[in-house]
Amino acid sequence: MNTLALHPDEARITISRHLYGHFSEHLGRCIYGGFWNADDTFREDVIEALKEIQIPNLRWPGGCFADEYHWRDGIGPRENRPSMVNTNWGGVTENNHFGTHEFLDLCERLGTEPYICGNVGSGTVQELAEWVEYVNFEGISPRADERRKNGRAQPWNVKYWGVGNESWGCGGHMRPEFYADEFRRYATYCRNYGGNRLYKIACGANVDDYKWTEALLKNTPHHLMQGLSLHYYTTNWTDKGPATGFDEAGWFDTLQRTFKMGELLERHGALMDHYDPQRKIGLIVDEWGTWFNVEPATNPGFLYQQNTLRDALVAGIHLHLFHSHAERVHMANLAQTVNVLQAVLLTEGPTLIKTPTWHVFEMYKGHQDAKNIPLHLACGEYTLEGKTLPALHASASKSADGSVLLTLCNLHASDAQPLTVDLGAAFASVTGRTLTADALDTHNTAANPNAIAPQPFDGAILSGNSLTLTVPARSVTALTLNL
Ligand code: AHR
Repeated sequence: MNTLALHPDEARITISRHLYGHFSEHLGRCIYGGFWNADDTFREDVIEALKEIQIPNLRWPGGCFADEYHWRDGIGPRENRPSMVNTNWGGVTENNHFGTHEFLDLCERLGTEPYICGNVGSGTVQELAEWVEYVNFEGISPRADERRKNGRAQPWNVKYWGVGNESWGCGGHMRPEFYADEFRRYATYCRNYGGNRLYKIACGANVDDYKWTEALLKNTPHHLMQGLSLHYYTTNWTDKGPATGFDEAGWFDTLQRTFKMGELLERHGALMDHYDPQRKIGLIVDEWGTWFNVEPATNPGFLYQQNTLRDALVAGIHLHLFHSHAERVHMANLAQTVNVLQAVLLTEGPTLIKTPTWHVFEMYKGHQDAKNIPLHLACGEYTLEGKTLPALHASASKSADGSVLLTLCNLHASDAQPLTVDLGAAFASVTGRTLTADALDTHNTAANPNAIAPQPFDGAILSGNSLTLTVPARSVTALTLNL
C-alpha cells in the first residue's frame, strides 16, 4: 500500500509563481507564427491561452539568439528595421519586426513579468546599459527620449535581466573565471532607475558543471548577482528519439532523466548554501523541458516537436521538484512557450492546440504563490528492464484561504496505484481532475485537439483527516481539498 502524509501546519515556504515561468526565443515558429502574425499583429488565441494558465513571467529574446541580438535593430518604424541572419536556428532571415516594444507590450497584454536576456557574447557593456536605460528610465535622457519618440511615454520598469546566456557555450565559449569578470563589468553598468531594483541573473551552469557554479560564486561580488541560472534538458543527447511513437522503454528512460533535475537542485543548491548561506541568491532554472527529434519534414533548426502524456509527466515531476526546493529556486522557465521543444501551445495555421503540458500548468496553477506543504511519500516501485523509479510523485500546497492542492503523478505505464493520504487536518470536501490516456504517446492535433485533456476525478474518498483513492496509471491528478 502506498501512503502519503501531509504536514500542513509546517507549510512556511512560498512556491513563487515565478516557478511557473516560460521562455520565448526567436527560434523556429515561437515568435513568428507563435506570438506574432505575418501581418505584424499579436496572435490573440495564444495570448488568451497563456492568460488561462496565469503565466507569471516570460524570458526573451533567447537562448542562444540573445547573444547575437542587437536590440537597436528591433526598435523604431518596422519598415526601417534592418534584418539579420538567425545563425543559431535554421539560418533564416530575422526581420526584427518583433522587438523590444512588441515584447513588452505582449507582456503587458499577458499580465506577466518580462525577463530580458542581454547580449554578452557579441554585444557591449554600453549596449546593454543603454537597453536598460531605454526600457526603464523615466526622466530626460537620449535613450528615454528615443523610447518616447517610438511611442512609449512611460518606462516599463523591467526587473529581471539576464547577463548573457550559456556563456560557456553558444554565448561565447568562455571559461568561468573569464565570464565572472565579464559579469562584473556588465552587471555594474545595468543601473537601477527610479524605484525599480534590477534582479540580475548571471549565466549559470550547464547541467552538472559544478565547477562553473563554484567559480562564479567565488569570483563575483554577491551584491551584483541576484540570481544564478541553470539549464537542464530531459534528453538523451546521443539519441534524442521521437516525441511520439516511442515504446515503454522510451517512456521510462525520459521519466528517469527527469529525476536528474532533483539531483542538480540539491548539488548546485548545496554549493550556493556554502557561498551564500543566507540564501539571498536565487537559483534560476531558466531552461528546462524535453528535447526530442524534430517532427518529420520540419526544419531541423526549428526544434518543433509534438507533446504527449509523457511530457505531461515530465512537467508534473519538474514542478514538484521546484516546489520542494522553493527556498532556493526563485524562478524556472519551461523551454519553450509555442511551437518549440516542450511547448505548452502548438499552432497549425489558424488552429491552436493546447498540449498535455499546457493542461498540467492549468491543473497546477493553484500552487502559484501558495505555501509548500512538507510531505512524506512511501510508495512502491515502477520497474522496467531491471531499472526502478518511484511509482508515484507528489506535491501539496496551502492557499491563503486554507484550501490544499494535492498533485500526484503516477509514473507506472500500466498499474494504477492505491493510495492512502494522511491529510494532517480535516477538510469538508474534495474535488479532482486527472489527465491520462490509453496510449503513452497520446497527443493533441488540429484534427483531434482534445485527444488528451483532464477529466473529472471523483474517486477520492474523504473521511476525517484521511483520503483514499486509486491513482490512475500513467496520469497526472490534481485534488483540491476545501475546509
Ligand atoms: O532552447 C533552445 C536552446 O537551448 C537555447 O537557445 C539555448 O540556450 C539552449 O542550448
